[in-house]
Amino acid sequence: MKNILNSLLLTFFIIILAHIGNGQNNISIIPQPVKLKINQGVYNLNLKTVIIAQSASSLVSANLFNDYLNQYYGIKLRINQELKQEKNVIILNYKAGVKKATYKISITENAVSIEGDEAGIFYAFQTIKQMITLGEGDKWLLPCAEITDYPTFDWRGMHLDVSRHFVGVDSVKKYIDYLALYKFNTFHWHLTDDQGWRIEIKKYPKLTQIGSFRNGTLIGAYSTSPRQYDSIRYGGFYTQEQIKEVVEYAAKRQIVIVPEIEMPGHALAALAAYPEFSCTGGPFEVSKLWGVFDDVFCAKEETFVFIKDVLTEVMDLFPGEYIHVGGDECPKTRWKKCDDCQAVIEREGLPDELTLQSYFISRAEAVINARGRKLIGWDEILEGGLAPNAAVMSWRGTEGGIEAAKMGHPVVMSPGSHCYFDHYQGSPLTEPHAIGGYTTLKKVYEYQPIPDELNQAERSFVLGAQANVWTEYMPNFKHIEYMIFPRMLALSEVLWSGSGNKNYDDFLQRVVVSFSLLDRIGANYSKAIYEVSASVLPIPNGVQVDFISAFPNTDIRYWLNSESAVYTFNKSIDITTNTTLHAAAFLNDSIQSSVYTQSFEISKSTGKKVTLKNTPSPSYNTGGAFTLVDGIVARIPWYGKEWLGFSGEDLVATVDLEKEEEISKLTMGFLLAETSWIYPPQSVEILISNDGENYTSIKKMNTDKMLSSKRFATFNFSPVKARFVKIIAKNAGIIPEHKPGAGHEAWLFIDEIQIK
Ligand code: ACM
Ligand code: ZN
Repeated sequence: MKNILNSLLLTFFIIILAHIGNGQNNISIIPQPVKLKINQGVYNLNLKTVIIAQSASSLVSANLFNDYLNQYYGIKLRINQELKQEKNVIILNYKAGVKKATYKISITENAVSIEGDEAGIFYAFQTIKQMITLGEGDKWLLPCAEITDYPTFDWRGMHLDVSRHFVGVDSVKKYIDYLALYKFNTFHWHLTDDQGWRIEIKKYPKLTQIGSFRNGTLIGAYSTSPRQYDSIRYGGFYTQEQIKEVVEYAAKRQIVIVPEIEMPGHALAALAAYPEFSCTGGPFEVSKLWGVFDDVFCAKEETFVFIKDVLTEVMDLFPGEYIHVGGDECPKTRWKKCDDCQAVIEREGLPDELTLQSYFISRAEAVINARGRKLIGWDEILEGGLAPNAAVMSWRGTEGGIEAAKMGHPVVMSPGSHCYFDHYQGSPLTEPHAIGGYTTLKKVYEYQPIPDELNQAERSFVLGAQANVWTEYMPNFKHIEYMIFPRMLALSEVLWSGSGNKNYDDFLQRVVVSFSLLDRIGANYSKAIYEVSASVLPIPNGVQVDFISAFPNTDIRYWLNSESAVYTFNKSIDITTNTTLHAAAFLNDSIQSSVYTQSFEISKSTGKKVTLKNTPSPSYNTGGAFTLVDGIVARIPWYGKEWLGFSGEDLVATVDLEKEEEISKLTMGFLLAETSWIYPPQSVEILISNDGENYTSIKKMNTDKMLSSKRFATFNFSPVKARFVKIIAKNAGIIPEHKPGAGHEAWLFIDEIQIK
């Protein structure tokens, strides 16, 4: 049955695509409507078109659509409240009592008719925006069509962190426009964190006077060693007037804003302004570094007065049902040593600091519930017991969401695996620096918000899902756009269209069409969907490289070094001398992807068999032992896949050169990244053998000498003949006091071994 259904659906898609291909080029609607039938003929959108909007709410949507047409197409329509003509009209029929956000569109050659509730009419216009095509003679056309549509999930969310990097009101409005275009209805505005407090609170002016600016920002990656900071004063905040303006702007676009005020952790900016609400009294500074910090709000009574005051002003500004109080990543270090916190634990009869966190959240919940609102927090609010009426946002995987739904609490799914748009969407070698992870468009598209672990009754507690956009590595709004597009389109379809007729290939074709809409509205986006990736394999005297593109039917072309000749890739390329290889995906002779660039350094050991005595840590063993001789010298800032990483263990590697070779030099790379607990080896010893059993030591060097070269250790020795070369790099061992990771085992990271 399911197969029959699938093939019917497939036929349905083919019919649609055939129609689309038939003159009304490239109709692509994201999210895919529930029912879409494209008919013969077109409706001509022109200066004589009149929108008939009889109700006040549909007038709002009509005006917004008209502004859009004016801004991006240079067409301004007339809007009437009465129907005075039969032809060339867009008629809006407000319909109460339908399932929320349902709409119908009927497009004929004479008229466009839209029916729906307030949200439905707004969404109908978002669909129509994606149906406008350019006809002959510069005419704007809509294909004749019948559409019926409604959403699957009620919580269709996008989050934005404005603390790590701040964007002004104009950018926030643009963000809201993007959400609206793709039928999201929830904007989670992450307004406070360690790196900046971004919302004016009248009763506590220092929150913005002091808390909204930091005196510098980390340069480059968190893992950089040693870390460096710029000294540029950085920050900003929204006045209450601006917030009201944004709330109203969003409401007109059917978007509710969920403000987030972080507690008890991620509070350094607030504590820099009001250190009296900490355990130690400070002083503190607004953080220049990313991460999780020990200084958090103290659970004493004065803090709860402050929290109540802040939440009260926040609730005055944001009329939505939910207020987000954070609750994630709150170390209990200070609480354990704080007399005030310990007194609360004793007074309330709490077993430990985890329950003190629950107590803290419950106090915030009481304030929120007293105003008839609901609290939502990150899944850590489950630890130590969930506040009585709280909703949970599940980010550390799906477990928190499952647990809360089983307890009958509302849940929003936002697991790092599929919903973190601060992760890479393509290869770290070609995408801009990101926090980590690898969350491709396909992965987002494949997300199913309802966990299999829930039964029918429990599933009803899953409100929906959202993507989180943490901005540590997104310094400006253009970069934010790049990270959300096109992944946001995939989430939009997951949340609106549901899982009934998912088809990634069809979606991908529609995404490509959507790129021209993003171009029209000036939004930046990643083209990682076209990226070429290489696999490298050993061959005698070098390596063989194979390319694939994630996008169907592209040509992969490559060029070598700085040559101008470009070759079309057919099989694989053998590399046996030092070479820089470039490749990219092309469609119709035009380059689509970013350029893959990789230098290969070929030595006597490249592509040879390497045996390891100790197995690298599974997290840093992507390519296995071959990583050490694949011709690719790992780069800095470090990219995990290019290294072998050993936790607490030594590298003992034996390279088999396959025959006796005269050798006089060995180079190896190691990583010094103290902030990630990665330390160079204590010593390196080189031994040789001709039978693979009896080894002679020919060189030994300790760390002091190697440190002078920082990155590579080079060993020169008198020429010798050998077939087997063994390298023993001793792990630095337990990390000494006053060094990052003190008391823990050091990591040892090794990359290319080159024997000459
Ligand atoms: C989070 O990503 N710390 C919620
Ligand atoms: Zn305390």
